[in-house]
Amino acid sequence: MRGQSCCLLLAALPLCTLAQFVPPYTEDCRRGTYPPTGPTFKGIVPWYKINLDSAPRIRWNQLIHDKKVELTNLIQVIKDLANDLFPSGKLIELVDKGLAPLVDTLPSPFNEELKGIADVSGVPLGEVMLFNVFYEVFTVCTSLIAEDRAGRLYHARNLDFGLFLGWDSKNSSWIIPEYLRPLTVNLDFQRNNKTVFKSTNFVGYVGMLTGMRPKMFTLTMNERFSIDGGYIGIIEWILGKRDGIWMSFLTRSVLENATSYSKAKDQLANTEMLAPAYFILGGNQSGEGCVITRSRTASLDIWELDLKKGTWYVLETNYDHWKEPLFLDNRRTPAMKCMNQTTQANISIETIYDVLTTKPVLNKLTTYTTLMEVSEGTFESYLRDCPDPCMPW
Ligand SMILES: *[C@@H]1O[C@H](CO)[C@@H](O)[C@H](O)[C@H]1NC(C)=O
Ligand SMILES: *[C@@H]1O[C@H](CO)[C@@H](O)[C@H](O)[C@H]1NC(C)=O
Ligand SMILES: *[C@@H]1O[C@H](CO)[C@@H](O)[C@H](O)[C@H]1NC(C)=O
Ligand SMILES: *[C@@H]1O[C@H](CO)[C@@H](O)[C@H](O)[C@H]1NC(C)=O
Ligand SMILES: *[C@@H]1O[C@H](CO)[C@@H](O)[C@H](O)[C@H]1NC(C)=O
Ligand SMILES: *[C@@H]1O[C@H](CO)[C@@H](O)[C@H](O)[C@H]1NC(C)=O
Repeated sequence: MRGQSCCLLLAALPLCTLAQFVPPYTEDCRRGTYPPTGPTFKGIVPWYKINLDSAPRIRWNQLIHDKKVELTNLIQVIKDLANDLFPSGKLIELVDKGLAPLVDTLPSPFNEELKGIADVSGVPLGEVMLFNVFYEVFTVCTSLIAEDRAGRLYHARNLDFGLFLGWDSKNSSWIIPEYLRPLTVNLDFQRNNKTVFKSTNFVGYVGMLTGMRPKMFTLTMNERFSIDGGYIGIIEWILGKRDGIWMSFLTRSVLENATSYSKAKDQLANTEMLAPAYFILGGNQSGEGCVITRSRTASLDIWELDLKKGTWYVLETNYDHWKEPLFLDNRRTPAMKCMNQTTQANISIETIYDVLTTKPVLNKLTTYTTLMEVSEGTFESYLRDCPDPCMPW
């Protein structure tokens, strides 16, 4: 999907596409960028508690109430983009009429949570559903897990979102990330007033892209473009064949209910899904860190840390690790170059932030950076920006 669209865009963005490895679109590995300051840092991400002991229908009320305006603004922008593509307004009509009834077919607690979000925000249920489907499709990212000499595990990611969903040439930015930044929140999910897991999320979205169960495991998801197309699974689901589950509901269930690295790994590798994905999973012991490459039905490959063989980190963008990345979109090589330059001896929250701040690992789609360390329970997220000159992806 992304690959094809890149070619279509070639005519429109010839300079940028050829320039990913040419300064100023790329740069030497950054140093000393942590603690975050300056033009690439747009602010810290606010924290909210979500109480898992309260009924699913009402557990998001406070958050949605506080962020109602920002959420309605984003949904309006998505509708405007859809209406630009299909000017008749038929698409949104279809969403409002066609998707809403499907919410009842979702498993608990997701069906009730989506209804609760629609209640409080005033956004039609079908559009809340669409908003929740959206992230299965357009998430391009960089995720990594690294182990330091003392056996501490770091897990970090840049979330890049909104590719091809509207370029604002006046601001030289993508439209969707502009609207997502004010919706980015850190969530502390609690039972009995105790943290079960934490995540960085977009308000209104009940799945998980980035999360941690403190002292147990850390998890991020990156989209995987596949020729057999995850989209087939999504279309089949809408038409009534519901064998697979939504990726984002799987990650949420794992964070909420899996009680060890190995159980999390087993569920992520073996549950049938609607779309392919990469799961990046870290545990709490030396050597526990892997990238799971998924097709809809099966795990194709599990790439693990292997300290004895010198694999002290694993790093995933949006391409199978055993293949070359698309030449137009190579964030992997620059990120690995910086990891290699840092060396295991000097890896830390600080130096990982440096890697994720180096262009084009940081690009115009980058919405937030999350840094996690499982045994201390460190979980930090920062809103990002990439002022010109900067690659669109
Ligand atoms: C290790 O990282 C720190 C913090 O970024 C940096 O100041 C220092 O120069 C690095 N040391 C080496 C040996 O690379
Ligand atoms: C674009 O830039 C203008 C002026 O800098 C600002 O007022 C506007 O909010 C920006 N648009 C978006 C979508 O951020
Ligand atoms: C959680 O804490 C609040 C306030 O500190 C208290 O009122 C409530 O009873 C506690 N709930 C549980 C389940 O312990
Ligand atoms: C986690 O398990 C509890 C208890 O079985 C269940 O009620 C809840 O729906 C599960 N959560 C998710 C997200 O699947
Ligand atoms: C690692 O996780 C397991 C549960 O999977 C837990 O029993 C153990 O105490 C954890 N170890 C550390 C060092 O936190
Ligand atoms: C980084 O180091 C690894 C392991 O030595 C090597 O396989 C890889 O090619 C290096 N990558 C870059 C971009 O330097």
